[in-house]
Amino acid sequence: MNIHIISVVPELLESPFSHSIMKRAAEKGLLNVTVHHLRKWAVNEYGMVDDYQFGGGAGMVMMCEPLVKAIEELSTETNFDEIIYFTPDGNRFDQPTANELSLKGNLLLICGHYKGIDQRVRDHFVTREISIGDYVLSGGELAAAVVVDAIGRLIPGVLNDETSALFDSFQDNLLAPPVYTRPEVYRDWKVPDVLLSGNHKLIEEWRYEQALHRTKEKRPDLLDRE
Ligand code: ADE
Repeated sequence: MNIHIISVVPELLESPFSHSIMKRAAEKGLLNVTVHHLRKWAVNEYGMVDDYQFGGGAGMVMMCEPLVKAIEELSTETNFDEIIYFTPDGNRFDQPTANELSLKGNLLLICGHYKGIDQRVRDHFVTREISIGDYVLSGGELAAAVVVDAIGRLIPGVLNDETSALFDSFQDNLLAPPVYTRPEVYRDWKVPDVLLSGNHKLIEEWRYEQALHRTKEKRPDLLDRE
């Protein structure tokens, strides 16, 4: 999968894809992330990419021209399946969306800043708008990092044990069950006997019950989802 990201603060995206699972995905050639500085397409030599909003009001708006030039230039080399804009008024990101996006080949992500981007770019180029939660970030970069991470780990071959992503929280609308590792007893806190029993059927049943219990307690809304 190829992911291109347009940003005015590309430095914010230097680290998230350079470590751990995302690094391995890149090394295996399964995920290529390229970050582009929007100022490359600035409207003047001062690097201008934003301007005051029509109608008045505090805060700058990212201009059409740099964004459109960036999108059109990058689109000559890559046929993007989706052009995604990160914004608090987008659709809430969730695991089904991550699953869906992980099947795409080429994505272009646009990180907004200030008051956001000129609506005409949203109207004419953006195919999907994503929010990572009901709070306002200073820009779309951290949202982009969250989404790329969530998608990247789902690409077949990225995780060592491919099946493990299938058992993540939210797959099947259930939170993940509790997990334990050595030692069997820490202080006087013991690992549940069933996990030491070696009986895989019983362990699976226990895990399912625990997942269901946790979901009922913490996120009952998930159980109503299709
Ligand atoms: N940009 C600013 N806030 C955001 C949010 N909550 N989700 C996605 N992009 C954003």
